[in-house]
Amino acid sequence: ADDIKSKSPLADVRVLVTAGPTYEAIDPVRFIGNHSSGKMGFALADELAALGADVTLIAGPTAQLSKQKSIKRTDVVSAAQMLDACLQHFDKARACIMCAAVADYTPAVVADQKIKKQDDELTIALIKTTDILKTLGAQKRTGQILVGFALETENEVQYAIDKLKRKNLDLIVLNSLNDSGAGFKSDTNKVTLIDRTLKATVYDLKSKTEVAKDICAKVVELIKK
Ligand code: CTP
Ligand code: CA
Repeated sequence: ADDIKSKSPLADVRVLVTAGPTYEAIDPVRFIGNHSSGKMGFALADELAALGADVTLIAGPTAQLSKQKSIKRTDVVSAAQMLDACLQHFDKARACIMCAAVADYTPAVVADQKIKKQDDELTIALIKTTDILKTLGAQKRTGQILVGFALETENEVQYAIDKLKRKNLDLIVLNSLNDSGAGFKSDTNKVTLIDRTLKATVYDLKSKTEVAKDICAKVVELIKK
């Protein structure tokens, strides 16, 4: 029995994961998006399921497929839809890992017809989206573990720590863009994990599958505390 436990440290633990980009509609045929591939979030969902977790995956538009059959996937398009889906599952989740690259701004109005080409300049008014992670952080109950990501290009560790505090997280995964080979579309990633004690652990550049294992090991440790 001890053997099964060590192989399935997350048996029956409910985990919510978000992955991929969001698309914010401008008109019926256009949107504002980003280059997130969804690979990191899908790798996390697969690893969590392999550790025995009951995984709900909320995915933005992506070509990724899960390896683990047990994963329950909900597809969404916009930041607002991702927020709704997360709020539906948050209460029952023991841990949430918000890996999605959520749009920070969305068009203030969606044109109901295709916008026609007119002047030399076009301005589209944007309004801020709701910060999903911050919303969940404000609702978090004792015992729930909330993990966020941070993408920074300067003052990386300090900005990541600011996000950890502002959003009431238990762990933040800082993505380093400095190292070649790491990033949105690549199969590799270089991360620094920072927990609430503000201890920063720097990891080597590795495949997103291996990075997912590092993150999950830390999540298992936080759940057991
Ligand atoms: N996030 C979110 N909802 C948003 C924007 C971001 O849940 N509307 C989450 C992301 O999923 C990620 C974390 O917040 O886990 C950090 O995203 P990031 O873009 O690095 O930080 P922001 O708080 O959006 O700040 P900025 O883009 O200005 O650095
Ligand atoms: Ca952002």
